[in-house]
Amino acid sequence: PLVSMNELLPKAKANKYAVGQFNMNNLEFAQATVEAAIEENSPFIYGVSEGALKYMGIEFTVAMAKAAADKSGLPIALHLDHGSSFDVAMKCIRAGFSSVMFDGSHYGLEENIALTKEVVKAARAMGVSVEGELGTIGGVEDDLSVDEADAKMADPAEAIRFYEETGVDCLAIAVGTAHGMYKGEPKIHYDIIQKVADAIPVPIVLHGGSGVPDEAIRLSIQAGVGKINVNTENQVACTNAIREVLLANSEVIDPRKYLTPARAAMKAVIKEKIRLFGSNNQA
Ligand code: G3H
Ligand code: ZN
Repeated sequence: PLVSMNELLPKAKANKYAVGQFNMNNLEFAQATVEAAIEENSPFIYGVSEGALKYMGIEFTVAMAKAAADKSGLPIALHLDHGSSFDVAMKCIRAGFSSVMFDGSHYGLEENIALTKEVVKAARAMGVSVEGELGTIGGVEDDLSVDEADAKMADPAEAIRFYEETGVDCLAIAVGTAHGMYKGEPKIHYDIIQKVADAIPVPIVLHGGSGVPDEAIRLSIQAGVGKINVNTENQVACTNAIREVLLANSEVIDPRKYLTPARAAMKAVIKEKIRLFGSNNQA
């Protein structure tokens, strides 16, 4: 069965590794992730954005995640990514999600706290874990778009207060990463991660994990990151593999001919991330 993030994250924080959230966009993403995790004996989190949910349909989304959990026997969480409202979160929980994110980062602090609290209260009653977000993460993901110049680092004192008042199970804070691929190198504020992580019992979540240099990932985990989200790198691997097949062979019509290498390319990316995050052999 699918598990809440509370079966995965406390161990990760205590042992200084991070659990990957790999976004699910279709069947091949779902399969690539679970196959990589089986080979690495790793726990993981399926992240599903509202856009991906619309694309796949909620029934197929839950069915694929459950199939992955049944097939693998691994601890897997099915997590709503950047949930925009209480109603979406409840819809996902009713459909079988084991975890939800409520992203109230575009509200003022007081409103973000109040709204997140409501989600935590309802989710907790059903054994479902909750991720909150504070500060503004730059870049583009689905319908969420923030100009990098407008990205605002999280304030540690506010983050600690946010945790204390909401009781979230993990906390995403803006520390310098962005959604999508980077033009230059991201400048990660390890001091912010460390300050907040030392003051609260739950791990920090690093969004925008694609394209972050390995060493920066390692330092972030050392500072207190226990969950890392990756989407774009898999999208790039998937699409590049498809493009390569189609460019080399214009008469291909069987989707399996390009989706098989696409899936293999994503699996290779995910295996590497699992090892980098240190969650291999932690299932
Ligand atoms: O919530 C999802 C992640 O933050 C994805 O970020 O597409 O840059 O890997 P990414
Ligand atoms: Zn994100």
